[in-house]
Amino acid sequence: PRSVGVLRLLALILALVTTWLFIHSYMSFNIKNIRLPRWLGGSTSKETKIMKTKCGLSKSCPANFFSFKITSGAANVVGPSMCFEDYMIMSAVKNNVGRGLNIALVNGTTGTVMKQSIFDMYSGDVTHLVKFLKEIAEGTLVLVASYDDPGTKMNDEIRQLFSNLGSSHASNLGFRDSWVFLGAKGLKTKSPFEQLLKNNPQMNKYEGWPELLELEGCVPSKIA
Ligand SMILES: *[C@@H]1O[C@H](CO)[C@@H](O)[C@H](O)[C@H]1NC(C)=O
Repeated sequence: PRSVGVLRLLALILALVTTWLFIHSYMSFNIKNIRLPRWLGGSTSKETKIMKTKCGLSKSCPANFFSFKITSGAANVVGPSMCFEDYMIMSAVKNNVGRGLNIALVNGTTGTVMKQSIFDMYSGDVTHLVKFLKEIAEGTLVLVASYDDPGTKMNDEIRQLFSNLGSSHASNLGFRDSWVFLGAKGLKTKSPFEQLLKNNPQMNKYEGWPELLELEGCVPSKIA
């Protein structure tokens, strides 16, 4: 009869409205979640698992820590990338990377990007790099990614300047090595954020280059 049809229609409408309400509240709940402060990042509840971390880190950073991810170039084909607090400082997509050393300077207190530059270490004039490194102010974070060849024009003065920023491997950096590093001016110890993969024809992933390197982590912000 007709009344049954009306009831079915009402039931269908009710079901649709309930579904919509559910989806709507669920989604706005997630959106709110994404905007929640960083201290919730470590939670393992279902909602936070689907939350995107800053820079796509495998784990969110605690409060008062900056998230970063540095990827070296792959051979001489794919450019490196540098992400800091979810901001892509340098990348192939941004078209602001190049052969040699890609370096970004970030204020260690505020996390704001101050400067970025590319230094061709194969055929460039490295006096620019020496000047750049010497001018770095106390309390600055220094992010470095290699691309293609970071080693040919490397010299003792530059190795020492990187060592002063907390690098352990700059002393050993050579032709077509993969190198990723985060250091700081004024660091008293060696930085825990560094990886070096030597160019080795027997071990290389690509014909003339080792595999790319990826470095991610949480760096404490300097309390002003
Ligand atoms: C970082 O920013 C703070 C606040 O603007 C400023 O006082 C400090 O000098 C900056 N540090 C560097 C290394 O630029």
